[in-house]
Amino acid sequence: MYPELNPYVVLITGGASGLGLAGAQAFAREGATVVIVDINKSDAKQAASTLGSKHIGLMCDVADEAQVNHVVETVVKQLGRIDVLINCAGIADQVKPTIEQDMAHFRRLLDIHLTGSYMMTKACATVMLKQGKGNVINISSIAGVIGLTYRNAYSAAKAGISMLTRTLGCEWAANGIRVNAIAPGYILTPLTQALIDKGRLDKSVVERRTPMGHFGTPTHIADAMLFLASDQSAFITGVTLPVDGGYMSWGAPSDAFDDHP
Ligand SMILES: NC(=O)c1ccc[n+]([C@@H]2O[C@H](COP(=O)([O-])OP(=O)(O)OC[C@H]3O[C@@H](n4cnc5c(N)ncnc54)[C@H](O)[C@@H]3O)[C@@H](O)[C@H]2O)c1
Repeated sequence: MYPELNPYVVLITGGASGLGLAGAQAFAREGATVVIVDINKSDAKQAASTLGSKHIGLMCDVADEAQVNHVVETVVKQLGRIDVLINCAGIADQVKPTIEQDMAHFRRLLDIHLTGSYMMTKACATVMLKQGKGNVINISSIAGVIGLTYRNAYSAAKAGISMLTRTLGCEWAANGIRVNAIAPGYILTPLTQALIDKGRLDKSVVERRTPMGHFGTPTHIADAMLFLASDQSAFITGVTLPVDGGYMSWGAPSDAFDDHP
């Protein structure tokens, strides 16, 4: 679909599961060489092997600067370049009243989502600036734009990621590096399925609140990743693209989806 992606080296954090894995599969189908970077070593290696022999799975905690720098050095040593970075590693928030939330989780969430995206982007940009070309895609969320009760660390991190996307998009626009973000709505992945199973997310409420009337699929997000990495989005930088079935556009005081017309 996008032949220009064929020679690319694409590094995807959190690529062993959910949205990152769907992105990895989509880029592999385009012929790109995919590097899956994940805190779960065996899952990273297993996911990469399912894509084919040229793809690589590496362990890295994106919240650890030394590990981030080491993994980027390893990729450059083995593959010579990094064309696309997708910052997709993430964990769920504590869904409980703020005064019961613990600081360790708050800090860890910001370290993974916001600081992790920053450190990984900084390390890859060093390579991309030398190449005179590169593309960074961050994963924000509707939670970074609208207010969701209890979601303090997650929402703050995602809003921060969208702002980082703007600042870095502006800084490197003249250097051939584009930086954009995707704000997924509710997408069915192992992360959201676990929240549904634990009773922390009501599937039918989400469906009624979403103008399209259903959850998104990881493929919807992978399609947006391909578009933002491709030449079809050549004049787009610094934006956060909602991929949410209309969720953020809806503002009326009622369910958005009426299944009894
Ligand atoms: N699923 C949704 O509805 C949804 C909506 C909006 C945003 N997002 C965001 O999309 C991203 C992916 O979510 P998902 O639903 O695919 O989740 P997921 O749990 O299926 O996948 C997340 C992956 O990140 C990895 N990971 C976690 N901590 C890490 C760390 N410190 N270092 C490296 N890897 C780490 C996990 O091992 C896992 O493989 C997250 O940033 C999430 O916040 C998801």
